[in-house]
Amino acid sequence: MHIISSAAEMQRIALDCKRSSKLIGVVPTMGYLHAGHASLIRAAHEECDIVITTIFVNPLQFAPTEDLSRYPRDLARDTAIASEAGTDMLFTPTVEEMYTPDFAVNISIGGVTAPFEGEFRPTHFDGVATVVAKLFLLTQPDIAFFGQKDYQQCMVVQKMVRDLAFPLEVRICPTLREHDGLAMSSRNVYLSAEDRINALVLHKALQEAQRLVESGERTRSRIEDLMKSIVVSMSIPHLRVDYIVAADAQTLEQPDVFAETQEIVLLLALRLGSTRLIDNMVVRAV
Ligand code: PAJ
Repeated sequence: MHIISSAAEMQRIALDCKRSSKLIGVVPTMGYLHAGHASLIRAAHEECDIVITTIFVNPLQFAPTEDLSRYPRDLARDTAIASEAGTDMLFTPTVEEMYTPDFAVNISIGGVTAPFEGEFRPTHFDGVATVVAKLFLLTQPDIAFFGQKDYQQCMVVQKMVRDLAFPLEVRICPTLREHDGLAMSSRNVYLSAEDRINALVLHKALQEAQRLVESGERTRSRIEDLMKSIVVSMSIPHLRVDYIVAADAQTLEQPDVFAETQEIVLLLALRLGSTRLIDNMVVRAV
């Protein structure tokens, strides 16, 4: 596996691959890889001739109060995981390599960025869109792989690709979970033993709400209230709820009553102490 840290070299190699008609798959990550990331790399390996995994903890998508400085990093481990999963090239630029001191671009996407994550992390999606656009230009993918775990992020990337006509396809891969249902996340390492148990409430609330919807419930407040009551019933210390919502899976609109067969996304964001966890599930109304 080839490790590249220079942006110019990455782009030159990617353009060379393109000229020789190789199908390029890219998996953008912030490192501290886990089985969820590895599943994206495997999906890329199955479909593409060349898999480029990028590792870059992107300062633009962290607010000053967030965990940029303590975000977990372990390049040796990441290299082993990425290689084992089928990465051909690992792109690991420095901040200086990605953003020169006079870098002045900001890609801001409207609509899907506004609710939920957008309310609690107002500058986050600009940072994501800006870095993902630059990573796309540096790695020239035919297919880019993202995880459903970050549901709104997927919508943002899809919107950017459509609106700016990036010549690539976006693949959304399912969320990988621990055996007990907790969605895998680089941030799970922050959790204390007690918080690790409490964190199961996200998946539990999603599962119960899924059952409710599949039993015929279409009133949004009843679906949301069930998830909220499950979260509250755990009496978790230091818990802060950012949002617990049900919305249209394509538009994120929130009708009072969902239509029959409408695709609904259930979205949660909770803070356990200083760790922020998100999870989601897509269910179809009956
Ligand atoms: P990061 O959190 O490292 O995630 C990289 C990719 O892995 C994202 O597409 C994310 O949705 C996916 N992923 C994370 N946990 C997963 C899980 N349990 N199962 C399946 N896929 C999972 O998301 C980012 O980095 C950044 O915002 C990035 C897109 C790289 C831009 O900086």
